Amino acid sequence: MTEHVILNDGHSLPEIGFGTYPLRGEEGYRAVRTALDAGYRLIDSAVNYENEDIVGRAIVDFLKESGTPRDEVVLQTKLPGRHHEFEAALASGKESLATLGLDRIDVLMIHWPNPITGKFVDAWRGLVELREQGVARSIGVSNFTAEHLATIIEDSGVTPAVNQIELHPYFTQEEMRAEHARLGIATEAWSPLGKRSAPYEQEAVVSAAKHHNVTPAQVILRWHRELRSVPLPKSARAERQAENLDIFDFELDDAEVQAISALTKKDGRLFGGDPNVHEEM
Ligand SMILES: NC(=O)c1ccc[n+]([C@@H]2O[C@H](COP(=O)([O-])OP(=O)(O)OC[C@H]3O[C@@H](n4cnc5c(N)ncnc54)[C@H](OP(=O)(O)O)[C@@H]3O)[C@@H](O)[C@H]2O)c1
Repeated sequence: MTEHVILNDGHSLPEIGFGTYPLRGEEGYRAVRTALDAGYRLIDSAVNYENEDIVGRAIVDFLKESGTPRDEVVLQTKLPGRHHEFEAALASGKESLATLGLDRIDVLMIHWPNPITGKFVDAWRGLVELREQGVARSIGVSNFTAEHLATIIEDSGVTPAVNQIELHPYFTQEEMRAEHARLGIATEAWSPLGKRSAPYEQEAVVSAAKHHNVTPAQVILRWHRELRSVPLPKSARAERQAENLDIFDFELDDAEVQAISALTKKDGRLFGGDPNVHEEM
């Protein structure tokens, strides 16, 4: 059982979640089921992943078959850029709920600010309304910069509960994490392992793995917890899903955390991850 992070709206998030891109179809359903069976209680989906149907079905089946209370599972999904107008955002949130087949979306977020289109303020107003209507319990954003956050907070008076950003040892997002702490926003990490360029062979990671008798992936995911970021690792394989969840029996000391954070580099972003330059991925 994982611990929880308390959000600024009083609800909470498990300390680690399961990423579902690009899981789809029956194979995707099985992967989400094995993740839930392994103990994941935070599942990350998005309209753009085209998998809300299998994610929702896996959750419904899991709850029914295991007798787990609904409130123990946190489902989050994301509004796509093509639905940023206010009315379109309302319709999109309701459609997500119907596709998921759940009673509510636990966390609904704006997937990308898409600053060139410039409609994320309307999209945020839509999410605030969807929360009022009970379609979403908590609302947040993803890939927002400090400036984007300030803009929506100023317009609506509502601070997002979470901002899901690219965050891994090659891209540590120190400034964004400080801004989140200042504003009371929980940090979620996408590509928390670093995806294809994960630093499994870097000395800082290898030596901590040896010291704690764990795997490099476990070291990186534990590093997220020491930074107070909520990692969302994806794996299609049951054994890796279990491995990635098993990070609560050891702690990294300050020197280990700093050595891993020192891997960060200016060009450490994964390709296409800059929300100031790129539209939605
Ligand atoms: N908000 C956004 O804009 C955004 C953008 C990107 C991603 N995301 C979210 O973040 C989630 C995770 O990101 P991601 O999938 O890009 O990157 P990731 O979780 O850092 O890495 C996933 C890759 O690592 C492999 N892997 C997983 N566990 C491993 C382990 N223990 N040892 C070795 N390899 C391992 C997986 O392969 P196998 O599957 O073969 O195990 C997969 O190729 C996504 O699924 C999605 O939910 C959000």
